[in-house]
Amino acid sequence: MPKTTTASSGCLALFGGTPAVPATHNDALFHWPIVTSEDEAAVIAVLRAGTTSGTDITKLFETEYAAWQGSKYALATCNGTAALLAAMWACGVGAGDEIICPSITYWASAAPALTLGATVNFADVDPESLCIDPIDIQHRIGPRTKAIVVVNYAGHPADYDRIFAIARKHGVRVIEDNSHAHGALYKGRMTGTIGDIAAASLMGGKSLAIGEGGMITTDDRHLYERCVSFGHYERTGVASNFNPADQVVTEESLVRFRGLPLGAVKHRINQTCSAMGRVQLAAYPRRIAEIQSAMNRFWSLLDGVPGLRPHRIDLNDSTMGGWYFARGLYCPEELGGLQIERFCEAVVAEGVPMCTPGLNSALHLHPFFHEADIFGQGEPTAVAFGQRDVRQGSGSLPVSETLAKRVLGVPWFKHDDEEAITRYALAYRKAAEHAGDLLLSPVQAGTP
Ligand SMILES: Cc1ncc(COP(=O)(O)O)c(C=O)c1O
Repeated sequence: MPKTTTASSGCLALFGGTPAVPATHNDALFHWPIVTSEDEAAVIAVLRAGTTSGTDITKLFETEYAAWQGSKYALATCNGTAALLAAMWACGVGAGDEIICPSITYWASAAPALTLGATVNFADVDPESLCIDPIDIQHRIGPRTKAIVVVNYAGHPADYDRIFAIARKHGVRVIEDNSHAHGALYKGRMTGTIGDIAAASLMGGKSLAIGEGGMITTDDRHLYERCVSFGHYERTGVASNFNPADQVVTEESLVRFRGLPLGAVKHRINQTCSAMGRVQLAAYPRRIAEIQSAMNRFWSLLDGVPGLRPHRIDLNDSTMGGWYFARGLYCPEELGGLQIERFCEAVVAEGVPMCTPGLNSALHLHPFFHEADIFGQGEPTAVAFGQRDVRQGSGSLPVSETLAKRVLGVPWFKHDDEEAITRYALAYRKAAEHAGDLLLSPVQAGTP
């Protein structure tokens, strides 16, 4: 049972003590993205040249991104959702098909399947990595499965060795959604290069933030060309059926319809974002190395504190990628069953507003995937194109449905400021050390 008396950390701010983090804390510690005069000059140059809709800067950005990540091909898009839609189509996802996708992710990892007339067979996630659980993929994969979407959730690389063992056995494509983990390493390989194809969001809040945009990467020329043909025309960075300057014919239907995007969508990125992307990418390895040290420092300070575990990969030659949406794992059983809401309330009172319970809500329960009739067919789109009905109700994915009580927000430090990080860590330590006091004074409506 946790102690009920004040420990070395002093009285909780919730009960009148001095907050661990003073109100005058350093905002620069969290400010992101870091924009310098170099970003400004690059963006202004595009505006002055009148080439926001051009592709010259975008091609440079694609080439640099591919080189940094170690992919053969990179194709920039207007956002990450577009990149995922194109990647799914490139992998052959169509009417009546299924994709497998973790239930805990942002909606764009899954929803484009419905636009293509397919459905989503949601899989559970692993409670430690928060990424798709390979065992649950095994339960769901079948003749209709065209792709597995693997999300490197909140910076954590997924369990690729086990995922590929299953995917290859069934001849199913693996699409990485690398929107949360740009620059992460899985056994020495950078995420975004591991799947058959990868899509990443580069929107303004991400770890690699370029304003608004997305990136598709692959080593597979055929998949690359299909992504070009879906949402781009007459503008590719490398040889392509859709690049008249250097045509290479590999798929007749793509050639025949050249000049019009087969997806009837326009996925071109605004070049102001490509310009900012080039500058951000050049600084990114240095900046995420600092984030890495800062986050590891924070977790080292909390080593051995009951109730808390880092959400962090513990594997040789593997790292978190940028620590986007930084989370911690909460173990109430080590704190006498203290509810996560009460724990977070105490940490917030210590001056840490980002300590909120939970993560993305479980998508398999969302009415969108059960009821939405997107195309006015008189029945839910999830079953209107001849798909198998794989909709799942409450109780079907136990980990995804309970994680909101076992995961909480932690500060996403951008600078390795020892003094400040020590204060933030103290806030969490105090709440854990005073779990007994918190248990004796449960949440009361409207009052601490
Ligand atoms: C995991 C994940 N996938 C896809 C997306 C979609 O990207 P975008 O917002 O750039 O369309 C996001 C977030 O924005 C995301 O978090």
